Amino acid sequence: MHVMKIRLAIMGSGSGTNCQSIFQAIDDGRLNAHVTTVLSDNPEAFILERAKRRGVPTSLLDCQGFKNKFPENVQEALAKQLRELGVDFICLAGFMRLVKSPLLEAFPKRILNIHPALLPAFPGVEAWKQALDAGVKQTGCTVHYVDAGMDTGEIIMQAFVPVLPGDTPEALHARIQIQEHILYPAAIQSATARL
Ligand code: GAR
Repeated sequence: MHVMKIRLAIMGSGSGTNCQSIFQAIDDGRLNAHVTTVLSDNPEAFILERAKRRGVPTSLLDCQGFKNKFPENVQEALAKQLRELGVDFICLAGFMRLVKSPLLEAFPKRILNIHPALLPAFPGVEAWKQALDAGVKQTGCTVHYVDAGMDTGEIIMQAFVPVLPGDTPEALHARIQIQEHILYPAAIQSATARL
């Protein structure tokens, strides 16, 4: 039986350990997908290097000097590029800009994100630090569909991580990342299996 491979684009701004976990899940047969392209807004991001080592084509998103904004015209050009490549789903993996229309309109319910907290708790940046500062006993990570809000889209899957006595932000984030690397490929497989 021929099973169609889902075509993924991965977008990240940093180290790309989640991107690496997606590659690993594909190689292990846990995720029936092909990574068509990896994109970053940061020329220094190690996620680009990981993609190059695997032979996956990369692109740099030129955000025209804006620190946080993801300019509309850049999103429009990106939507066109990804449609031409036949991309089915976009996976945000540590991508630190807010996606809005026209990318959302070009890929309705086809953009996923991983967030390092149990949404709806602690949206936004450094969510592990927010959890530590709030004194919760448990946090985790969430994979969700991306909508126009900040980390507000429909939840697909979550994993729980205890906050331990004496935890530092770094130690807690590292334990959350271990769970992210299991959760994200599983959630992508589940969300894309409906195609
Ligand atoms: C991950 O912990 C991810 O959940 C988080 O950035 C890290 C990226 O790590 N994303 C956000 O905070 C999004 N608001 P990685 O580059 O090693 O995958």
